Amino acid sequence: MTAIGAMTGAAANGSGQAGMTGTRSLSIRGLTKEYVRGKPVLRGISLDIAGQGITAIIGPSGTGKSTLIRCINRLVEPTAGEIWFQGMDLARLRGRSLREARRRIGMVFQEYNLVERLSVMENLLCGRLGYISPVRAWLRRFDPADIERAFELLDIVGLGAFATQRADALSGGQRQRVGIARAVMQRPDLLLADEPTSSLDPKTSVEIMELMAGLTAQHDIPVILNIHNVELAKRFAARIVGMAGGHVVFDGLPADLRDDHLKQIYGGEGWLE
Ligand SMILES: Nc1ncnc2c1ncn2[C@@H]1O[C@H](COP(=O)(O)OP(=O)(O)OP(=O)(O)O)[C@@H](O)[C@H]1O
Ligand SMILES: [Mg+2]
Repeated sequence: MTAIGAMTGAAANGSGQAGMTGTRSLSIRGLTKEYVRGKPVLRGISLDIAGQGITAIIGPSGTGKSTLIRCINRLVEPTAGEIWFQGMDLARLRGRSLREARRRIGMVFQEYNLVERLSVMENLLCGRLGYISPVRAWLRRFDPADIERAFELLDIVGLGAFATQRADALSGGQRQRVGIARAVMQRPDLLLADEPTSSLDPKTSVEIMELMAGLTAQHDIPVILNIHNVELAKRFAARIVGMAGGHVVFDGLPADLRDDHLKQIYGGEGWLE
């Protein structure tokens, strides 16, 4: 199946070839994932993502959006294909080189993935990607420069007064602010966000998207965002990728995403009335 969007990804977010060759661009080739042999969830996805702006991935539940972004940081092992980033095929990295690559890729999760028993500040300082266990977190010594930066970031996300609060005492919106600050704290070259607003009310969702879009634009961090809310995707993304059945079926500008595309992505049409 071919993409029905009129524009290619590079043209769609206005960066052209230059963006594709930049140090923060990502190039996915023939990415396939089978959790069960012979039953691919991703069926040979190829995508070029420019090193700037938000690329939103939309598609029905179970179509492999989370699988796609989790293949990028190898929370999920790809079955086949290549994921080129900064001169390396992320799909093939192991050991130390994989750890180093992961350090440059931030992630924001739907369920925040904070270390609940640690303070907000400790989450920022040691919660990289949510991979680190609470034990390791406690044992970690912190660099004063990191502590200063963490305080700055907490102020920016509006949680300056919450540094010593335990993460489990925060509301969902506050938790996601911590999740975003933690990801930016890592100084990532790429941010992956998997349904960062799905657990939040509509107003808080917009505020969280504004915060994420603002912070990542300011720090020049490209974002790959999985999101169910098509309106939010259109409002904040430079480019929309529509997935269905393990393929990319739309790739283009938000303004070019029409109802017939949505029917192809989500199937049926009664829900569009
Ligand atoms: N660890 C796993 N083991 C086996 N199957 C899995 C695993 N993770 C996901 N799947 C299956 O892969 C398919 C794609 O799942 P995925 O979570 O990537 O979809 P999604 O598009 O993110 O859905 P949603 O919009 O509901 O988050 C689903 O059929 C799911 O059941
Ligand atoms: Mg998902």
